[in-house]
Amino acid sequence: MAAKLGHLAQGAASVLCLLIFFVEPSDSRAQARISGGNGTCISRERDALLSFKAGLLDPAGRLSSWHGEDCCQWAGVRCSSRTGHVVKLDLRNNYVVSAFQGLYTMHYYKSNSLSLSRNEMSSSLVALQQLRYLDMSYNDFNHISIPAFMGSLQKLRYLNLSLSGFGGRIPSQLGNLSNLQYLDISGDYYNVLYTLDLSWLSHLSLLSYLDLTEVDLRAVRGWVHMVNGLSSLKVLRLVDCGLTSIVSATSKSNLTHLQVLDLSSNSFDATLEHNWFFWDLTSLKELHLSRCEWHGPIPEQLANMTSLEVIDFSANDLVGLIPNNLENLCSLKVLNFDDNNIDASIGEFMDRLPWCSWSTLQKLSMRNTTMTGNLPLEVGALGNLTLLSLGNNKLDGVLVKEHFSGLLNLEYLDLSDNSLKMDIEPNWIPPFRLKHINLESCTVGPRFPEWLRWQTRIDYLLLGNTSLDDVIPDWFWVTFSQASALDASENMLRGSLPSNLQHMSAISIGLERNNLTGLVPRLFPINITSLDLSSNSFSGSLPAELKAPQIFMLSLADNKITGTIPSSMCQLTSLARLDLSRNKLTGDVVQCWKESHNNSSVSRANSADQFGSRMYSLDLSNNGLSGEFPKFLQSASQLMFLDLSYNRFFGILPKWLPEKMPRLEILTVRSNMFSGRIPKNLTCLENLYYLDMAHNNISGSIPWLLSNLKAMRVIYKDANDYVYADSMPVITKGQTRDYTVGVFSQVVNVDLSCNSLTGHIPEQISLLIGLTSLDLSSNQLTSKIPNKIGDLKQLQSLDLSNNKFSGEIPSGLSALTYLSYLNLSYNNLSGPIPSGPQLQTLGNQIDIYIGNPGLCGHPISKNCSTSTTDAEQSVVHEDADHIAYLYLGMSIGFVVGLWTVFCTMLLRRTWAISYFQFVDKLYDEVYVRVAITRARLMKKTRKDAA
Ligand SMILES: *[C@@H]1O[C@H](CO)[C@@H](O)[C@H](O)[C@H]1NC(C)=O
Ligand SMILES: *[C@@H]1O[C@H](CO)[C@@H](O)[C@H](O)[C@H]1NC(C)=O
Ligand SMILES: *[C@@H]1O[C@H](CO)[C@@H](O)[C@H](O)[C@H]1NC(C)=O
Ligand SMILES: *[C@@H]1O[C@H](CO)[C@@H](O)[C@H](O)[C@H]1NC(C)=O
Ligand SMILES: *[C@@H]1O[C@H](CO)[C@@H](O)[C@H](O)[C@H]1NC(C)=O
Repeated sequence: MAAKLGHLAQGAASVLCLLIFFVEPSDSRAQARISGGNGTCISRERDALLSFKAGLLDPAGRLSSWHGEDCCQWAGVRCSSRTGHVVKLDLRNNYVVSAFQGLYTMHYYKSNSLSLSRNEMSSSLVALQQLRYLDMSYNDFNHISIPAFMGSLQKLRYLNLSLSGFGGRIPSQLGNLSNLQYLDISGDYYNVLYTLDLSWLSHLSLLSYLDLTEVDLRAVRGWVHMVNGLSSLKVLRLVDCGLTSIVSATSKSNLTHLQVLDLSSNSFDATLEHNWFFWDLTSLKELHLSRCEWHGPIPEQLANMTSLEVIDFSANDLVGLIPNNLENLCSLKVLNFDDNNIDASIGEFMDRLPWCSWSTLQKLSMRNTTMTGNLPLEVGALGNLTLLSLGNNKLDGVLVKEHFSGLLNLEYLDLSDNSLKMDIEPNWIPPFRLKHINLESCTVGPRFPEWLRWQTRIDYLLLGNTSLDDVIPDWFWVTFSQASALDASENMLRGSLPSNLQHMSAISIGLERNNLTGLVPRLFPINITSLDLSSNSFSGSLPAELKAPQIFMLSLADNKITGTIPSSMCQLTSLARLDLSRNKLTGDVVQCWKESHNNSSVSRANSADQFGSRMYSLDLSNNGLSGEFPKFLQSASQLMFLDLSYNRFFGILPKWLPEKMPRLEILTVRSNMFSGRIPKNLTCLENLYYLDMAHNNISGSIPWLLSNLKAMRVIYKDANDYVYADSMPVITKGQTRDYTVGVFSQVVNVDLSCNSLTGHIPEQISLLIGLTSLDLSSNQLTSKIPNKIGDLKQLQSLDLSNNKFSGEIPSGLSALTYLSYLNLSYNNLSGPIPSGPQLQTLGNQIDIYIGNPGLCGHPISKNCSTSTTDAEQSVVHEDADHIAYLYLGMSIGFVVGLWTVFCTMLLRRTWAISYFQFVDKLYDEVYVRVAITRARLMKKTRKDAA
């Protein structure tokens, strides 16, 4: 599995694409072959169907019509009108609501799927000997193997088991289905089907459609040879099968009818031009070789494949332009060279596009291909183009309206991340009605582009960082009222937002980092799932009635919002991420408890629809909030990130904290007025690697069972090992730095400074070998500093100052080679200061040790052999006070806004790629899960690889 993940990680690095689709109802061609029966059901076959049904779970009641005599009338069953035999069984789950491809995985959200009640499938179906058509796709058959009995349904012409949750080895009995014309057993990432050889395929000589996507073929020898025998093949899909070579025994291809070949996501790691037995597949219409680790030039042999309509060579390492002999490729519709290294001017590229295909070309995608130069005006002649994606290149120059004048059919335009400047007069009326626009990081402003006013069909509008310095025009909210996603972040937009956005269809709005003022809209778009208004100057209070039943991400951080958090917030039960930090909110945090029944409230706290129950990130820091630790967090069993710092919370840290929020990774309550003890079981938080309780009034001792803090017992070598759900400011001595985007680094932190802790440091602290920063300063800790503290080899910062530690300084400290900040001042330490190269390199040497009259040796002037007088010590003390506190520029680093990164990547990549799909709706889970899944998988990949 490690290899598989690794391979995927590499291959799919550029793909973070979201696609959601609604599956079409079943195959109409197949239906035409078969007419409905009428009361002719054969009882033996009826019994077989009933027995099959009995082994299934059918929560949605899809088979509820399966009763009574006439099985030919049952849903999904068709009988021959001639013989009365069941000839078709269509159990496809047509309710695949959504699917998305993450970095590593494809996820399907299937509702209404059938699954098995026992762990095997009833073989009763064998009785359906006349069955010609069997479709079980998109169900969930519990990872069981494909039943071997399917091999005895000898009349089958059509077998579709795709994405139905089968796993394990493919039964070679499928080779008995010699009438088969259509075979789809494509799987998904989680249900790995495999086969050790493909010789069973050779009996399926009528096969015209074969899809083995995601079937593990790594063990198969000579797959080319096996496939080459299937001379009737028209469609062959072997996506992500672990194929590594295309070595063939025969040089001549037999696949003379092949029209669609998809070998994407295999690791061929070879030059494309030499590795081919396919070059004489001249009937080919679609050639998909995306993410295959091809390198070298784009081969000239393409010139003979004159039927080609679709060429997808994206995400490889191909270099150079397309060949200049393609003049006979006159049917081209789709060209996708995204994520390659073409490294030439776009002008030359356009010159090599076959002239005869200029009117047929519909999609031209050249994202991230290191293309240079000015966009030639001829682009406007691609009259049938619906998609033009040139984002993330090195294009420069000025775009004028003539560039677009001929693009009558354009729907999707991506010019983002180039040095392009749009210079289009305000009265231009575009010839197209776009659905997707991505102009991010181009210069579009300063004026808000008037021509957008005509783009009323916009679904996605991306204008982030486009130098807009203007008021958002009033028509914006009308013209784009049907759009799904609107982003104009990182500009200098001014003015206020309409107070009522309920008429908007938007599911995502990003206006963060602008200069917007006024109130937060009173009424949100009703389907909104993600709203980011952070880093503006919104003021006033929050709307009293927050209504956004599907919202999962709400950030109003870094504004000037005053007043209390309204209790209607409790209705936002879908929230996964809430960031209200850096405002001027006051008052108690709403508790979101229905007070009516005191007893039932506890059980209600666990129910799935409670506020907080889906939350994984909550940031309320830097406000004036007060009250006790928020009680609604008892429902927050998913929470990974919690920041309550810099408020006026008081009371104890509740005992239920670790139990109710078992997934916490980052917990900071810094600078509040919490009192009482550290909950003992806090050390049960296995995922916690960042704990900051500094500047409170916490007393009692440090819980000793530190060994449970597993996430602190790992050494993180690679910045990417860290898995965060959110951004946060990281405190290093005297400095708060806020890193919301872009910088990963390695922080494993325990900060309990400035409290009233007593007792000693538990010996077990030495197990937390991942710690990079430990601050226990300004407490009342006593006894010796454990000698084993020297085991914390990753420590970069250690502050034990202002306590009552006694005894000698452990010599192990001198072994901490990464230590760049140390403070042991104002304790009762005595004896010689250990020597060691690292200790010598630390900053102001005297500051480190001052206030420990019993210490002696370098760098303190007191010699260890003689005893110090009080007078001498006070001299040392005074000197130190006059030395400015030069805190070292610490290399601790900062946590990153993974969420931001993901969300951005997700949306933007989606918009870049989704043209091949139909992106109609974005569902809330998709965002959240992709972020988390990706993070999790990253972690796993690395562990596996290690
Ligand atoms: C089914 O009904 C149709 C008319 O409704 C009739 O023409 C056909 O013969 C019937 N088939 C059988 C097998 O009875
Ligand atoms: C081509 O297909 C035919 C019929 O399936 C088969 O007999 C022949 O061996 C195949 N040739 C090659 C080179 O695989
Ligand atoms: C195209 O096919 C012809 C005939 O098979 C062959 O001679 C020629 O070399 C091919 N051209 C390319 C560019 O491969
Ligand atoms: C751009 O393409 C290169 C391959 O040429 C790939 O390695 C890189 O990850 C791509 N960058 C992005 C942002 O997709
Ligand atoms: C678009 O393609 C069709 C044929 O597919 C052609 O008839 C038409 O002229 C093309 N339109 C333009 C503007 O080139």
